[in-house]
Amino acid sequence: MQLFFSLPASPPQTFLATFTTFRHCPVRFLSTLILLFSLFLLLLVVVLLLLSIHQWRHSKDRRLPPGSMGWPYIGETLKIYTENPNSFFANRQKRYGDIFKTHILGCPCVMISSPEAARIVLVTQAHLFKPTYPPSKEKMIGPEALFFHQGAYHSRLKKLVQSSFLPSAIRGSVSEIEQIVLKFLPTWENTTINTLQEMKRYAFDVAMISALGHKQDSEIKGIKHLYQCLEKGYNSMPLDLPGTPFRKAMKARKLLNETLTRLIQGRRKNEQQGGGLLGVLLGSKNQKVDQLSDSQIADNVIGVIFAAHDTTASVLTWVLKYLHDNRDLLEAVTREQEGIQQEVIEANRRLTWDDTRHMPLTTRVIQETLRTASILSFTFREAVQDVEFEGYYIPKGWKVLPLFRSIHHCADFFPHPEKFDPSRFEVPPRPNTFMPFGNGVHSCPGSELAKLEMLVLLHHLTIGYRWQVMGDKDGIQYGPFPVPIRGLPVKVTPRKIKAA
Ligand code: HEM
Repeated sequence: MQLFFSLPASPPQTFLATFTTFRHCPVRFLSTLILLFSLFLLLLVVVLLLLSIHQWRHSKDRRLPPGSMGWPYIGETLKIYTENPNSFFANRQKRYGDIFKTHILGCPCVMISSPEAARIVLVTQAHLFKPTYPPSKEKMIGPEALFFHQGAYHSRLKKLVQSSFLPSAIRGSVSEIEQIVLKFLPTWENTTINTLQEMKRYAFDVAMISALGHKQDSEIKGIKHLYQCLEKGYNSMPLDLPGTPFRKAMKARKLLNETLTRLIQGRRKNEQQGGGLLGVLLGSKNQKVDQLSDSQIADNVIGVIFAAHDTTASVLTWVLKYLHDNRDLLEAVTREQEGIQQEVIEANRRLTWDDTRHMPLTTRVIQETLRTASILSFTFREAVQDVEFEGYYIPKGWKVLPLFRSIHHCADFFPHPEKFDPSRFEVPPRPNTFMPFGNGVHSCPGSELAKLEMLVLLHHLTIGYRWQVMGDKDGIQYGPFPVPIRGLPVKVTPRKIKAA
């Protein structure tokens, strides 16, 4: 107490002196403190006022889309994981409209569910929105894969990849794909299969011949094994610790790179490019000077196999589910396929590319499955600069997500969207409303191959077999694509052909 009530010996000179002075004069100390505190409050009010004026002017000129950013940092991440993602999107679309903001996985995002706005992001203003992936995925697939790039490097690679999967390039693969189908089907007979796992094995084999060609190098078996290890860690937490699936996957990725590099160098040395995507990439020279490096080729081959098999397998799993649940449709598809089979037998030939162009109903079943299941619910882009967008402002660095599923399930474009009805594709959908393979510069180069392998499998499966879904629980699991629960276990039996 004595400390504050003594009188000052001399006027204050320095901070230390002031403090010493106050020690001896508590009344002056208190009044100065109050004065300083008032000044501080005044300053705070002025700063806050200036800030809110700035924000007000800023938001007047540059209006962010409506929506909630949720809690600080975690945003609405918990909601998107606890709610069904489809209702998450639908509820917000109902509340805020076709363009709304949210905050998930630590990122501010703008979600887009109108065909016109999605087209701006993916097609007309695609240069303002770059593709974006978590760094762990980029490391696993390989940083030089085309998915992660924009501009000249992307378009050079895209042309090469596209040329490997054009109808003219894949039409000769029908008999190889058919051979793979005919190898799998007898192994399913009278057993219960996990549809998703079997479809993955099938789509993987097709992806391998499409990427590496039909040439059987000694390395191919090893590549398959390493790929399976890589895949196991791909959707795990990116924890780079001993024993984690991520660490194991990264080890497999390194070995995969070494194996592919040996394969690439072997083919370069023997001047045998071989077929498939690898052959095209090996043969590529930019204006006859710039050869692709081994790692550019390896990353793109690995990337394409990745993009090709899980996607196609998930869609095929849904096709089997929908045909199982719609018996009349299954019989109609079978009749269509029997017609083709009749022509094949009469002409004493094998199934051809042209046959697959004459399967309209089966094709519509695939289209309706792509729409209903929408296995790629959305894609990720990132604004490369501040963007004025449909009357809103999207700040640089924000993620932008065109919501394919919401567009595919909008009753304005697809009446009774929850109904599985392939006949809706008897007339082409409105432009930009059906995007199972994306749109614009990064759209899928493998769409024709995916459809072809589905058609060839359905030809033999519907003619020769029937399948019964095991278990009575309907539901969806995400791994990472939405697929029927438990990967759709089905019992496959030979089809009993009714006597005429
Ligand atoms: C039914 C099966 C498939 C579906 C639903 C599908 C869907 C998609 C979608 C929506 C995109 C665009 C992603 C984006 O814009 O961010 C895409 C890109 C891609 N897909 Fe597919 N895909 C399928 C099969 C395939 C196959 C069989 C291949 C390989 C032959 C393939 C290779 C690729 C590649 C390389 C890209 C990246 C293109 C780029 O970034 O320019 N996909 N796919």
